[in-house]
Amino acid sequence: MTWNEEQNSKDKEIQEHLIAQGNLPKHIAVIMDGNGRWALARQFARISGHKEGIESVRDIVKASSQLGIKYLTLYAFSIENWNRPLNEVGGLMKLLEHYLRQELDELHKNNVRLFTIGKVSSLPKVVKKLLHEAMERTANNTGLTLTLALSYSGRWDIVRAVQIISLDVRRGKISPEDINDELFSSYLQTRDLPDPDILIRSSGEMRLSNFLLWEIAYGEIFISQKLWPEFRRDELYEALYNYTSRERRFGRTSSQLASGETPDRKDSYFKRVVDALKNS
Ligand code: IPE
Ligand code: IPE
Ligand code: MG
Repeated sequence: MTWNEEQNSKDKEIQEHLIAQGNLPKHIAVIMDGNGRWALARQFARISGHKEGIESVRDIVKASSQLGIKYLTLYAFSIENWNRPLNEVGGLMKLLEHYLRQELDELHKNNVRLFTIGKVSSLPKVVKKLLHEAMERTANNTGLTLTLALSYSGRWDIVRAVQIISLDVRRGKISPEDINDELFSSYLQTRDLPDPDILIRSSGEMRLSNFLLWEIAYGEIFISQKLWPEFRRDELYEALYNYTSRERRFGRTSSQLASGETPDRKDSYFKRVVDALKNS
């Protein structure tokens, strides 16, 4: 059975109501936080919090796919997380391996395309191999694009992009005047993903922890008090209802938006400044 076939009618009704709001996000990004606290509160080892967190991943992936969301990006492991105790890092890598082995068939059957961002070279060999196989197998799927941020950090990706841009300038492939928002974005690992419309963080923490620093520029932020292992589809629905009621102004005024007025500048501010300097 596919995810759409197994859905119960009450859940379908809620989703239809949400979809009827008309402006669901295209891209949802999630900082999955609070696994350790969930375990600690039960006097379990931290790893059991991560295990339970995988159940939340399953439910959120499924619900997003059923809702017709195009992109879901999950922060699963940061570069800074390598500094955690060895046994926790090892346990997380094992869980990741297990998840990839166990879920691939179901993801594929449900038309999910798997993608990853981060410093993949630091991951264990077996995980790298599984990721590669999963991405290859699901490459032509047209449903949800599920991106796992693994050994990822926003600054790392930005610095990496700057290095490659510098090399391309040195080779004469681009000139410094060519550098604008769009070109810069095309050097990031997220180049094929639209910017997230909403960033959800669980467990009440109000920080980005080095996630998608460039891409989140105009993303709406939703903080849930629930710890990640308790964050299931109802919490996602709450975040999405909240999102659909917001006004995204992108620096403009409410009345401009209401009148449907379009911006009169065609070029980015940066390009106009560069052009002005060039001509002076
Ligand atoms: C998030 O949960 C999962 C990862 C960072 C891998 P945490 O492990 O950070 O849980 P808390 O924040 O300690 O509760
Ligand atoms: C952010 O959570 C990273 C992931 C969810 C993978 P952390 O728990 O590592 O973040 P901090 O240390 O509390 O900022
Ligand atoms: Mg945490």
